[in-house]
Amino acid sequence: MAYGFPRDGMNSPRKVHVKSFGCQMNVYDSNRMADTLAPEGYVETASPADADLVILNTCHIREKAVDKLYSEIGRMRELKDAANADGRQMLIAVAGCVAQAEGKEIVRRTDSVDLVVGSQNYHRLPSLLARARGGETVVDTEFPLEDKFDALAQPSPQAIAKRGVSAFVTVQEGCDKFCTFCVVPYTRGAEVSRPVEKIVADVDRLAASGVREVTLIGQNVNAYHGLDAGGAPVALGQLLRRLAEVPGIARLRYMTSHPRDMIGGLSDDLIAAHGDLPALMPYVHLPVQSGSDRMLAAMNRKHTRADYLEAIARLRAARADLAFTSDFIVGFPGETEQDFRDTLTLAEEVNFATAYTFMYSSRPGTPAAELADQVPEAEKAERLQRLQAVITRQWRAFNASFVGKTMDILVEKPGKLTGQLVGRSPYLQSVHVMARPSLIGSIVKVVITDVGTNTLFGEMTQTVRGPAHATLGA
Ligand code: SAH
Ligand code: SF4
Ligand code: F3S
Repeated sequence: MAYGFPRDGMNSPRKVHVKSFGCQMNVYDSNRMADTLAPEGYVETASPADADLVILNTCHIREKAVDKLYSEIGRMRELKDAANADGRQMLIAVAGCVAQAEGKEIVRRTDSVDLVVGSQNYHRLPSLLARARGGETVVDTEFPLEDKFDALAQPSPQAIAKRGVSAFVTVQEGCDKFCTFCVVPYTRGAEVSRPVEKIVADVDRLAASGVREVTLIGQNVNAYHGLDAGGAPVALGQLLRRLAEVPGIARLRYMTSHPRDMIGGLSDDLIAAHGDLPALMPYVHLPVQSGSDRMLAAMNRKHTRADYLEAIARLRAARADLAFTSDFIVGFPGETEQDFRDTLTLAEEVNFATAYTFMYSSRPGTPAAELADQVPEAEKAERLQRLQAVITRQWRAFNASFVGKTMDILVEKPGKLTGQLVGRSPYLQSVHVMARPSLIGSIVKVVITDVGTNTLFGEMTQTVRGPAHATLGA
């Protein structure tokens, strides 16, 4: 059967179901995989049961992620057997960071997987799939020399419109920081920045298809140093200034930043951009991991508690309404009660809008996995709970502080109730408001009336800026 054409005798396209685990980079990659398969005749389906190809886009960051993958493969195997019984071929592909890290081990451990493709090789998907379809079990986890970004297909205007008014754009990938607990430098390779012109072209295309908000993503996004048209390196602040000029783009965000790149002279321009660019949203994710200098050194974070607090203070001086989120790891090897208390006091001092809190998870191949002084699970769990109590209190207070205030809301999609729309505040809070569907893609002024568990509720006062495309979502 010819690959890439509708199935024999049937005029229906092939269907691909992509399931993402892990970070924003994986969500972005999942979309780009779908875009790359679209010219091959694949359409996306939300239901794995009727898919001809299921791609599990995996994350390797914590132990449970691998367990999750194998239980997911088990579930998919049942669907695959059912498809086979119907005389239909269904392929299972594993992509992402577990694919990169485990490679052949995956096809050794299970015979249900047809293709393992590493995080840098998605542009080769069409040829790899052709081989898999012919019955070969294919593993490709080499770090290639060619630029995967250039080789991946661009989304069609229809695909963009379907995904909504907010989009991710990868500007940087990989990491050279080698925190002692982390697998990312091994699964994503060395840090690489994309050239400015390519990013501008991506954002132009997104804006032309109705996207209003762009989040620049990278494992170390504020280490960005892509080249401009003249071959000169450009830092993230300058890139944001350039993108703020793209017509139709009302909001810019970036994640994830490393505190090491938010201190010292090189960060001045990025910090100043927060004061200069109204489009740059006042919400910064700055993972700190620990408040203890002893732990920060053992983690090889290359910054101190004081450095972190200074970065926060400089950002707040540039824009007073900035809010911060963070990542924390509790129970890193050797963490004492005093070290942990330093983390609690740092959280109190900064007052976060919210944060992700994790128990340290030992990752094979990372330096911290070799450390003797591992913290018992029960102690980690107890510390996690104590930290979560502080963060939950801060998060509730942050949300409650907006009741009675007016916020700019980017309207994204219809809500569950008739006449209800869901949008995002500058702080990524989900806001429910009653308004007409034609406002999807607009930024509207909303008075916040109530706070739910994960949502704010409000009433619209006026439209600020209309959608770039009047038809979007209408
Ligand atoms: N610089 C990247 C880090 C990605 S990992 C970024 O910020 O996006 C995201 C978070 O996972 C890290 O900030 C850290 O808090 C957590 N993490 C990474 N490795 C971990 C491990 N071995 N155990 C527990 N949490 C971990
Ligand atoms: Fe991992 Fe540290 Fe790199 Fe973040 S900065 S990806 S935590 S090694
Ligand atoms: Fe996970 Fe890979 Fe992202 S390990 S957090 S999917 S970079």
